[in-house]
Amino acid sequence: MTAERLSHLHTALNQAGFDALVLNPSPTLYYLTGLRFHLMERPVLAIFKPGQDPILVLPELESVKVAQVPFPVQAFVYGDDPATWAEVFNRAGAALAPAKLKIGVEPTWLRYLELEILKAALPDGEFVPAGAVIGALRLHKEASELGRMRLAVEAAQLAFNATLSLIKAGMTERQLASELTIQLLRAGSDSEFPFAPIIASGPNSANPHASPTDRPLASGDLVVIDWGASIQGYCSDLTRTIAIKHVKPELAFIHDVVAQANAAGRTCARAGKTAGEVDQAARKVIEDAGYGEYFIHRTGHGLGMEAHEEPYIFGGNPRVLAPGMTFTVEPGIYLPGLGGVRIEDNIVITHSGAESLSNLVRDLIVVG
Ligand code: CO
Repeated sequence: MTAERLSHLHTALNQAGFDALVLNPSPTLYYLTGLRFHLMERPVLAIFKPGQDPILVLPELESVKVAQVPFPVQAFVYGDDPATWAEVFNRAGAALAPAKLKIGVEPTWLRYLELEILKAALPDGEFVPAGAVIGALRLHKEASELGRMRLAVEAAQLAFNATLSLIKAGMTERQLASELTIQLLRAGSDSEFPFAPIIASGPNSANPHASPTDRPLASGDLVVIDWGASIQGYCSDLTRTIAIKHVKPELAFIHDVVAQANAAGRTCARAGKTAGEVDQAARKVIEDAGYGEYFIHRTGHGLGMEAHEEPYIFGGNPRVLAPGMTFTVEPGIYLPGLGGVRIEDNIVITHSGAESLSNLVRDLIVVG
């Protein structure tokens, strides 16, 4: 399968006018080679050039991994003395004849460390962001990828349900986050979560990207819970908002509006619609209810090997949705000082419409 992905990459590079693509450890490297490395102080680089076997430069202690790659590679291995690395990278660069090349890089992953090494090893190389080529490559999920995403959603939902019964007034956001973390691992998530769970209660829930604090949950709070599991490199990313005991009518009302906006976004999503139309469908519900100015982010983002990837669901995005695309629908309303609501599901575009991979209850759950 990954050998097939390699030939797709070569076609895409040719079409986009790139001579080669260079990757360091990233989800894309895993997608293409099945190889995972921790991004640390020792540089690992893979160079893909149509017409020749990919080049892999890696430290000696990782060299056993070369045998796992499902296609032939030219491996260059270096030892533990950094003074010897440049010579190895230079030999790898020399294997990429001719010298004058337009080389694509993954802008959100390649570091200054690797770029400096590459510039030295390929002095005539021109390094250009290739995010669009890479994004397009991973945009349509294969059945095996969707299978892993379903498992990631299932694990996240199991963890949420197991945590829900433990939530009570007086426990802190941090305590709730640690329970959810334990339950994610018990439900089978990889230990490297897509992101650390967000637990935001009371006024903190008006901040979409809050981190858990020592604030105790109190009666009247909304609590935004945003979490995800990771299974074999694939992510889920869900959000539900619950209430503690007696919730104010306006907060219950905005929850209802957001649930309707979430439904409108999911209903709009289908092949042939644009990402922008999905955003507009969800946003219109919130605007019509008078809360448009409090919906301060886009409606969603693509999801797969990364918790944020193509396609991004924002108002002006002309990208046409097609079967196999996976993304979140997560409208929200955030009232400063009072609280916020977000309801997030994970969607796949199918041949007949769209399927929500997640099916947790979307009505306001009130915990006593
Ligand atoms: Co999300």
